[in-house]
Amino acid sequence: MQEELERNDGVYRMLVVDDRAAMREMLEGAFSSRGMQVQTAASGEEALACLSAQPFHVVITDLNMPGKGGLEVLRGVKASSPDTEVILITAYGSIEVAVEAMRLGAYDFITKPFKLSEVEHKVDRIIQKLDRGGPQKIQTWIHPGLRHFVGTSAHTRQLMKMIARVAPSNSSVLITGPSGVGKELVAHAIHEASPRRDRPFVALNCAALAPSVLESELFGHEKGAFTGADARKAGRFERAHTGTLFLDEVGEIEPSIQVKLLRALQEGEVERVGGTQTIPVNVRVVAATNRDLKEAIAQGRFREDFYYRLNVVSIDVLPLCERRDDIPVLIDHFLHKFSLEFAKEVYEVEDDVVGAFLNYTWPGNVRELENVIERAVLLAEGNRISISELPAEMLSLPENPLLESLSVDLDAPLMDRTGRLERELILGALEEFRWNKSKAADHLGLKRTTLQYKIRKYGLE
Ligand SMILES: Nc1ncnc2c1ncn2[C@@H]1O[C@H](COP(=O)(O)OP(=O)(O)OP(=O)(O)O)[C@@H](O)[C@H]1O
Ligand SMILES: [Mg+2]
Repeated sequence: MQEELERNDGVYRMLVVDDRAAMREMLEGAFSSRGMQVQTAASGEEALACLSAQPFHVVITDLNMPGKGGLEVLRGVKASSPDTEVILITAYGSIEVAVEAMRLGAYDFITKPFKLSEVEHKVDRIIQKLDRGGPQKIQTWIHPGLRHFVGTSAHTRQLMKMIARVAPSNSSVLITGPSGVGKELVAHAIHEASPRRDRPFVALNCAALAPSVLESELFGHEKGAFTGADARKAGRFERAHTGTLFLDEVGEIEPSIQVKLLRALQEGEVERVGGTQTIPVNVRVVAATNRDLKEAIAQGRFREDFYYRLNVVSIDVLPLCERRDDIPVLIDHFLHKFSLEFAKEVYEVEDDVVGAFLNYTWPGNVRELENVIERAVLLAEGNRISISELPAEMLSLPENPLLESLSVDLDAPLMDRTGRLERELILGALEEFRWNKSKAADHLGLKRTTLQYKIRKYGLE
């Protein structure tokens, strides 16, 4: 069993057991969007059947279910696969049951109502343990550092692979892309996926500060270095020692400070403002900008030598309208996020809402999409978001030509076979279930939002 539990291509398997569909969906959504392979069971009996078919790394089970309950699932797990970790969820946090569960080998206990982040935290700890214990540590795109980074488009998958590939080194990384695409998230993910993850991550927004303030923020200052410097202060470089320094909006830094940064990076040491002593620093620098630095170089506003120092690895994040395949999973991700935050259960959107999301140009990128969902979840009266909860500017647009190009002639040479097969399977399922999308989605193993998207993509309506 031990051997079978080794990661399969770096993917961890989870079984979620609960008699309520909403809870299953929530946990499944949360962990599959973080790259785990999640299976669900609606009863203890079903769970035991799943367990006899294949082992799982993590099992999350409700305690009280009609028929076989969580303790029986726990016993079944431990009998067949002792290394599987089990987390129990219960509405009744009774001490007796908790003691019994721990005695039977449960990993941990969660009492309802709980925050998704609590469960995530416990699962992360299990995964970190598995990562450490694994015979060879494989870097994959489902690294824990990427757990809040969702997306299924070819571009985002490529991005995740790139992050996992560059994270282990100390090379500087320059992240480019328009506002709101997730540059800061990428910087975080690099840090979290790197060996420096337990060391400080220090961020500084370089656009927000006047040059003299920026200098003392970066390098620190000695007491009396300038009026108001009434105590010695360590700079961000010193504070990021052995960790990662994130220089946000690096394109806004004055050339005079660029020189000093370049020296700090080259020499691995800094000097506080008003100081004479050099302080050695070991810092990995990740920088981000939404400017075209090549153009800034041509205009003499950005130093070429500093650019090459930063740009050892470059990661460009595309605007959302150029990777629309990410929209359905982002919708799901933020629905869960804000449902938890506002203690609501808004996990679905109506069909025309998906259409509006796909049709919109998203000038504010993912940040704008996040804000739209936040507002809609807040306004929603039932469990679904309807078109009336979207801001007016999203609805007044003509059909988007980019979207049209998605549902092109399906026999065109560019349309690969999988696409055609997928379309046929979806159409088959829709016909089988008389266009009941929830049932068809269930049958296909897709989320409803994803099915809605694909129906549009393949022009099936
Ligand atoms: N792929 C993603 N998955 C989940 N959340 C995302 C993703 N991309 C962006 N976000 C969220 O969108 C918001 C904006 O992202 P972020 O702040 O990283 O953008 P940015 O590129 O740094 O923008 P700016 O240039 O304006 O600073 C954040 O709340 C972030 O968590
Ligand atoms: Mg940012």
